[in-house]
Amino acid sequence: MTIIHSAPLPADLLAQLQTLAPLIEVPPGVRPQTLIGAEQRASVVGMLCTLATRVDADLLDCFANLKIVSNVAVGFDNVELEQANRRRVLVCNTPGVLDAAVADLTMGLVLCLARNLVAAHEFVRSGGWRSGSAPFGSDLAGKTLGLLGMGRIGSMVARRARAFDMRVIYYNRKQDQAAEAEGLATRVSRDELFAQSDYVSVHVPLTDETRMSIGTREFELMQPHAKLINTSRGAVVDEAALIRALRTGRIAGAGLDVMAQEPLDPSSELCRLPNVVLQPHAGSATTETRRSMRVLAVDNLRRALCGEAPRAMVNPQVWPIEVATSQS
Ligand code: GLV
Repeated sequence: MTIIHSAPLPADLLAQLQTLAPLIEVPPGVRPQTLIGAEQRASVVGMLCTLATRVDADLLDCFANLKIVSNVAVGFDNVELEQANRRRVLVCNTPGVLDAAVADLTMGLVLCLARNLVAAHEFVRSGGWRSGSAPFGSDLAGKTLGLLGMGRIGSMVARRARAFDMRVIYYNRKQDQAAEAEGLATRVSRDELFAQSDYVSVHVPLTDETRMSIGTREFELMQPHAKLINTSRGAVVDEAALIRALRTGRIAGAGLDVMAQEPLDPSSELCRLPNVVLQPHAGSATTETRRSMRVLAVDNLRRALCGEAPRAMVNPQVWPIEVATSQS
């Protein structure tokens, strides 16, 4: 058996995986099937990977004995799930452990836009402070935050926003009765969410249904002073429409941790618009959270290979899996 990993791992987690099987490290940006020769591919039963690894039909065909893909991410839009299901390949992810970090960054982007932190920082650095007055911001208290998606991360954002005395509304197909009973947030229609919010924050996964689902129509519904925050997936937003809305003042700003193409090309207009704050898909990028994600991903892989149900299965219907341990 062999395990391949395209997620860099600390020594203790590497050692844990090595007790299961020999490891092959795949450098960032390299497709595993181009690195590993045909004769060795048959021995690969497990893979630990990040969102940068595309798990598609080609990869799954090349690694015909692959049984478990452990994604070091909660999202799994890098995996063609249909193809994995068809081949009975178990896909695992890392839900729960990154909610707080992503919610923190979401609020960071809200604060950054509300208080003009980037412009104020530049004002100090450029010496503008000596001769002018600092850019003003606006209060968060009393403003409305609209959450598109009220899952684990959305509800953590709601909790934080309430601590800033914001009013929180959400749109989710299912009502979140616990959040409503707690007075955290009120459910509105999708159109009302865009129309009423001072800040719209996106917390939906990327699926066929959500791809490009926020575009001109939604920006037309938003108030001209409103701002869009996206810490979920860039492709949920029609980026060309967003750039137009920002350029023409249809909406007032955007805080983006994610983009349609990552890494973002520095020649993108998003990098030049003054009303945009950008982050490098860093929602979970804290030492503690990234460690927890790796611990969970390694544990998912270990359990699956040892015949124990992993803690976070995306497609539990393929469990239990049969690992061809005779391969070497
Ligand atoms: C990050 O984007 C994740 O899905 O974990």
